[in-house]
This record gives sequence, C-alpha cells and structure tokens, in this order.
Amino acid sequence: MAFFKVFLLLLFSPLVATLRTRQIYEYPPGRSRSVENIAIRHNGELVYTTTSEPCLYTINPHVRNPKPVQVHCFENASVTLGIAEAFEDVFTFVVGNYTHLQSVPGSFSVWNVNFRPHWKKPRVDLVVRIPEAAALNGITAFTTSTILAADSTLGQVWKVDLDSGRYSIAMSNPHLLPNASLPIELNGIHFDHIASKAYIANSANGTFGVAEYHAATGTFSPFRVLAHAHPGGVFDDFALSRSRQVAYVTEHSNRVVSIDLRTGEKEVVVEGPGGSVGGFEPTSAVLSSDENVLYVGADRFTFPSGAETNGQIFEVDVCSDKRVHKWERIV
Ligand SMILES: *[C@@H]1O[C@H](CO)[C@@H](O)[C@H](O)[C@H]1NC(C)=O
Ligand SMILES: *[C@@H]1O[C@H](CO)[C@@H](O)[C@H](O)[C@H]1NC(C)=O
Ligand SMILES: *[C@@H]1O[C@H](CO)[C@@H](O)[C@H](O)[C@H]1NC(C)=O
Ligand SMILES: *[C@@H]1O[C@H](CO)[C@@H](O)[C@H](O)[C@H]1NC(C)=O
Repeated sequence: MAFFKVFLLLLFSPLVATLRTRQIYEYPPGRSRSVENIAIRHNGELVYTTTSEPCLYTINPHVRNPKPVQVHCFENASVTLGIAEAFEDVFTFVVGNYTHLQSVPGSFSVWNVNFRPHWKKPRVDLVVRIPEAAALNGITAFTTSTILAADSTLGQVWKVDLDSGRYSIAMSNPHLLPNASLPIELNGIHFDHIASKAYIANSANGTFGVAEYHAATGTFSPFRVLAHAHPGGVFDDFALSRSRQVAYVTEHSNRVVSIDLRTGEKEVVVEGPGGSVGGFEPTSAVLSSDENVLYVGADRFTFPSGAETNGQIFEVDVCSDKRVHKWERIV
C-alpha cells in the first residue's frame, strides 16, 4: 500500500539498476494509477489489485505490448489491496475504502476470485466482511483453507477461514502499532509453510522481520527484526524466494532490496530509475514459479521537476543475481 509519498521527502539520485529490469506496462499519463499488490497464475499471467480504483486486473507479461484486462470492479468500495493464491487458481484478496489517504475502519472485506476453467469468466465471491478490521493490507496463504491478513493500523494479524468465513486474531502486539508519522505499520506478510514462519514488513517502523508459528499451540513467537529500511525509506510488500532463502522487498522510493532470511543481510538489487523503468513507488513483488523473474508492481512516482511515471509493472532478471549461485551451492 503506497500512500507514503505524502509523508516522505522524495530523494532522486540518477543511479542505474543493479539487476537487469524491463518495463512490462505503464499506465498512460494523466490520472494517477497504482498497481498495489501482485500475484501470479500458473499460466504465467499476473493478477493485480489497485488503490486507484476498486478493481481487479490481469495482465500477461509474455505477450508484446500487454494491456491490463479488467476482471471485476466493486461498486461500494474504493480500493483493492493484498492478494494471494489460496487454492490452485483461486486468489483471495482484500477490498475496502480509503478516503483522503486514510483507511475507513469497518469497510474491509475478503473476497475470492476463481480462475478455474469451468467458469466461463473469472468468478468473484465474498468470503467475509470483517467490520472489526481497520486497515486490511497484505495477505498470505496460511494453513489449509486459511489466510492471514495484516491490519496496518490495529497492530494485529487476522486469520480468516475461507470455507466458513470465520475470522479471529492470529497475532496482536502493541509493538506492531503504527506511530504518529506514518499511519501504516504492518504491510506485506508472507508465510513460509516449510519453515513455519511469517515474514512481515513493518512500514512505519522501517523494519522487516519474522515471527515463528507454533502449530501445537496455534500461536506466533514475538516479532524479531531481521533488517532495517534505509533512512527515509519505507518497506512495502515483498516476495519470498525459497531456493535463495531471501525476501525481495520493495522499498519506497525507487528500490528493491534482497534480505537474507537467515542473516538479515540486506542488498539493493534494483535502484531506479533505470533503463525502461522510470521512477517508481514499488508496492509489491511476486516471483515466477522457477524463481528466475521477479515482477514488481508500482504506484505513480513524481520527480521533483514534476515529471511523473505512472503506475507500472516491471520485471527484474533475478537470475543475473550472482549471489544466486552462491546460495544455490549452500542450499
Ligand atoms: C465505501 O465507499 C463506497 C463508495 O464511495 C460507499 O458507497 C460505501 O458506503 C463506503 N462504505 C463504507 C463502509 O464506508
Ligand atoms: C456492496 O454491497 C452489496 C449490496 O449490499 C453487497 O452485495 C456487496 O458484497 C458489497 N461489496 C462490498 C465490497 O462491500
Ligand atoms: C522497531 O524498530 C526498533 C528499532 O530498530 C526495533 O528495536 C523494534 O524491534 C522494531 N519493532 C518492530 C515491531 O518492528
Ligand atoms: C515513526 O517511525 C519512523 C521510522 O522508524 C521514525 O523515523 C519516526 O521518528 C517515528 N515517529 C514517531 C512520532 O515516533
């Protein structure tokens, strides 16, 4: 979720990308558009949400000059947020309201979009409304038929059962509350089923870290910090690479970093603007199934000159990351 630009002083340094990047799509100039959260289908198509309208889109990065295809729009909401694959070709996502860059508590609901071929067109169904939620943001598949949803202002993580619609608080901690300067704390969340750990980006606190899940008690350990954002930078959503044991984390503005999940070692992998990718406010990332390509979604970026790059999606050739080979030898 990328409403940070109003809170941050934008710094512009003309550095080139450290890994090869290629723009897949940029919204035409004019009305501000965002790509908020991004997921990938098994056929390689991307599915994304947006905070510039209450809609869901797909785009195929494997064709020339791809264009977004609208899947669904909601009448009584203003944004779509976190999205994650919950079952094969069924994606769960968040719908809600923001006014004047502030979330509207009580307006949030969780939905499924089903791309399975026996539906003539993608089918969109309500899972549940969560009136107690204040700002649902990132989501992730959790245990069988449940998802976790980070609440950016309540300092808690909701657990939602996709079959029954029942929801409860999975994690709650006053240390996860936002502070006065940025009303968004918990942001991206991704659960690693093999390690039984939830990785979380904390925007307001400028931290990225982990909480271990104890299945026997159904509880999480306290949040442990692995890495910090650079001064003035804000972590947003991210992708986990199992083969490399890193998270590719988006960082406002113009950065994507990798964070080693074991040591917390952080390195800049993309520093924009560079190549065909103009300035960007990166919001989220997803890896191709072979983990060779990272797709990054971004909100509009405004240069101090007033020039703009509108919302966009670009790809990063993470294969050319030399450390990949080092990691592959270790794992
Ligand atoms: C959310 O926004 C929509 C569209 O502006 C409005 O119709 C709806 O009443 C709002 N819902 C809440 C709970 O604020
Ligand atoms: C909007 O309202 C209609 C009618 O009450 C309801 O069916 C639909 O699920 C609502 N959508 C959202 C996103 O709240
Ligand atoms: C917030 O940042 C401080 C300073 O780095 C750190 O000690 C603390 O654990 C962080 N809290 C969270 C919830 O990230
Ligand atoms: C909020 O957190 C940010 C990032 O850690 C920090 O720079 C800022 O001073 C904090 N503001 C307050 C009011 O605590």
